[in-house]
Amino acid sequence: MTILEQSFPGSSDQEQGAYAKIKTLPRARQGTEQQGAYAQKKKLPRDPEALRLRVGCIGAMSDKEVQQFTKFLDEVGAVVLKPDREEDELETYQTLDRLLGKHVWHDMENDHGIVELNPEKPTSINVADTHHPHQPHTDDAYTEQPAVFMTLNCRVAAKNGGESVLVSGADFLDDLSAEDLETLKKPGMVTMGRRPAEPNAPWKFTSSIPMFWVDQESKRLCLRWRCKDKCVKEVAPEALELYERLNNIALDDSKQLVVPLQPTEVLVLDNRAHAHGRTPYPKGEPRVLWRKNYFGNGQLAQSIKTGMVDHEAVQKPAVPMVQEALLGACSLVQYRLPVLRRNSSEHFT
Ligand SMILES: [Fe+2]
Repeated sequence: MTILEQSFPGSSDQEQGAYAKIKTLPRARQGTEQQGAYAQKKKLPRDPEALRLRVGCIGAMSDKEVQQFTKFLDEVGAVVLKPDREEDELETYQTLDRLLGKHVWHDMENDHGIVELNPEKPTSINVADTHHPHQPHTDDAYTEQPAVFMTLNCRVAAKNGGESVLVSGADFLDDLSAEDLETLKKPGMVTMGRRPAEPNAPWKFTSSIPMFWVDQESKRLCLRWRCKDKCVKEVAPEALELYERLNNIALDDSKQLVVPLQPTEVLVLDNRAHAHGRTPYPKGEPRVLWRKNYFGNGQLAQSIKTGMVDHEAVQKPAVPMVQEALLGACSLVQYRLPVLRRNSSEHFT
């Protein structure tokens, strides 16, 4: 049963037991059935409610709640924690730090490693520019080592708009041929950067790492993305058409999942599987989110496969269903023929 087929909270004891078994095994040693599941691309649901996981208190999550949280990130790559109560706003980070590991440094972070996204004190041109959408992107795409997990903690929700928007990296992959993918796995195809919020500010950081790459430890195919906005510095001529195509997918309403966040809710996203952005909202309207990103080397490091899909699964050439059925029939004949011959000889001698 996948996470989208079951209703949360409260999966069955049998499911909990099965999952507890998987959790104890290192990723590389899990069985073939599980590997088959990981050959599926991580896909976001069509209904944002399917991402919500109700918990008592994020700062004191039970073992069962942590298992459910893990399963969401492992299978879907996204979850919205919806706490019944918040006793201390910083306690949330004791849990996130423990589970998700070392946080990604940011030059505008506070003493707790949190970056406040607030148009009153903007950290980037996109945070300042509220009446335009912040187009889909993966975080830290302007660095050499982007975050594994992105977390957004809603403190003040805008009254009109300002919702989070998610896009599945799988939708990009579905549109790419093997040749296209190889082009985008090269460094230097798209150079992205970050600019301070002041007008005409110079580039502060830039990176030209590949748009798609294979994590050497997990062998998972990972995504780096940024729609064509003021933070994209340069696109190589050989990637222009591909980048345009993917940009259109990311901006297609039918591919975007709009997720409204309420105060105290925390969105946790696999930053190497999906992109995120936000819808516009009126200038001057209060909206505050806390962002803290992680490298994924915490307690759940061995329990969550990050990235879009097993690289091996996208390397195989596509085999049409009829061809696959014929290959299956041929192998059955090859297997059965010696048996038939042996039985025949037994009957006639
Ligand atoms: Fe972001």
